Amino acid sequence: MPSYDVIIIGAGPGGYVCAIRCAQLGLKTAVVEGRETLGGTCLNVGCIPSKALLHATHSLHEAEHNFAAMGLKGAAPEVDWAQMQAYKQDVIDGNTKGIEFLFKKNKVDWIKGWASIPAAGQVKVGETTHETKTIVIATGSEPSALPGIEIDEKTVVTSTGALSLPSVPKSMVVIGAGVIGLELGSVYKRLGADVTVIEYLDAVSPGMDGEVQKTVQRMLKKQGMKFVMGAAVQTVQTTKTGNKVSYKLRKNDKEEAVEAEVVLVATGRRPYTSGLGLEALGVEMTGRGQIATSHYATNVTGLYAIGDAIEGPMLAHKAEDEGVALAEILAGQKGHVNYGVIPGVIYTHPEVASVGATEEQLKEEGRAYKVGKFSFMGNGRAKAVFAGDGFVKILADASTDRILGAHIIGPAAGDLIHEICVGMEFGAAAEDIARTCHGHPTFSEAVREAAMACGDGPIHS
Ligand code: NAI
Repeated sequence: MPSYDVIIIGAGPGGYVCAIRCAQLGLKTAVVEGRETLGGTCLNVGCIPSKALLHATHSLHEAEHNFAAMGLKGAAPEVDWAQMQAYKQDVIDGNTKGIEFLFKKNKVDWIKGWASIPAAGQVKVGETTHETKTIVIATGSEPSALPGIEIDEKTVVTSTGALSLPSVPKSMVVIGAGVIGLELGSVYKRLGADVTVIEYLDAVSPGMDGEVQKTVQRMLKKQGMKFVMGAAVQTVQTTKTGNKVSYKLRKNDKEEAVEAEVVLVATGRRPYTSGLGLEALGVEMTGRGQIATSHYATNVTGLYAIGDAIEGPMLAHKAEDEGVALAEILAGQKGHVNYGVIPGVIYTHPEVASVGATEEQLKEEGRAYKVGKFSFMGNGRAKAVFAGDGFVKILADASTDRILGAHIIGPAAGDLIHEICVGMEFGAAAEDIARTCHGHPTFSEAVREAAMACGDGPIHS
């Protein structure tokens, strides 16, 4: 008789959410986690600590750039790096302990240690083998290394090391202008480091709407970040004075180099599945090293997988939604994730957020669409808080007015995007948003005006 209905391996956002939902639906559930604290990469060395540093450094930026204009006098604050790190740790502790509390409240067992799967229906942790009806792999991802570059997490770091540097470096080279590169690069720029981002492609944040890509790069340049685009990093050599990053320009094959005290390697992540014993079990994998699934089921009976370990965007909220959907499937319900409405947010300042199709995708599909755009310059609230840079862009079907996608760069973009997400879930037309009364003065009025711009036109531009 198995001791559990479900054992979930990994307590990140995918695993812990799946566990809580399983328990809520009456399944006897345990989670195996080898880290000292629950919450996975997101809570311990990812989303949450980086948001603490973003908040702290943005506050510094406000003090340095906008306080005087608002009549707030006094010397600009100095950075006490040790205290900023302590604040970040408090934020992590509060969040990870919160998951522990939720596990106790929902009667989810935490099996401490690293799991392997000797056979279907068995999870081995240390010397103990636990029997279970179902196993869910939610082991997430790890930074993918670049050949020829050795990470020491001291001066050549991944996002993990970058969150806990011993001091603020004078200079930093960021390899990769993806989400991590832009977020952490801008943190260190605000702290006073000289930051150069080297990117293989010709645009930052791959996959985002082209107009947004150009705008975010322009804004970050204005904040002092330097960009070398179309450059493939070849090697990083550690010297006495720092690290020499060599790259080759794609347009002419010319080799160049730049030196920096710290190098952040932010060139993507890959599924983390080593040590589970998947090969011996005969688990099918995709060509990109992900666990192959169909409705989260692997080819091995009773073995499921969710989150970064399977296909799709590597996002905490995508993993969470998969965790909920799988729990519902395991409880005999109809779990479902709408992959067409998964928002993406980059937490730079200003924030960047998007959902649904980009203009480039719609053009490629040959779909007739219209664009409704509104600048935050026309939004009273944004102007009052020095946040008039940026815009809301809504893409709607040319004949039905149905919203196909939205792209926002500006204040609270990561929150504003959800109005569009809800609208898209309900199959909303841009006119539905345009006819909805929005509180004044709020940033959300810019979303309404962009929706109006899909029709007769906005009021404030
Ligand atoms: P990414 O895939 O977003 O960006 C990596 C970038 O590195 C790409 O633009 C790529 O062209 C570039 N690159 C690769 N090799 C290179 C080379 N040799 N030289 C120069 N450039 C090179 O990956 P990133 O930023 O490391 O993030 C990893 C994952 O974590 C992503 O899936 C991301 O979505 C997720 N994440 C999401 C966050 C959010 O939602 N706010 C925050 C942090 C991470």
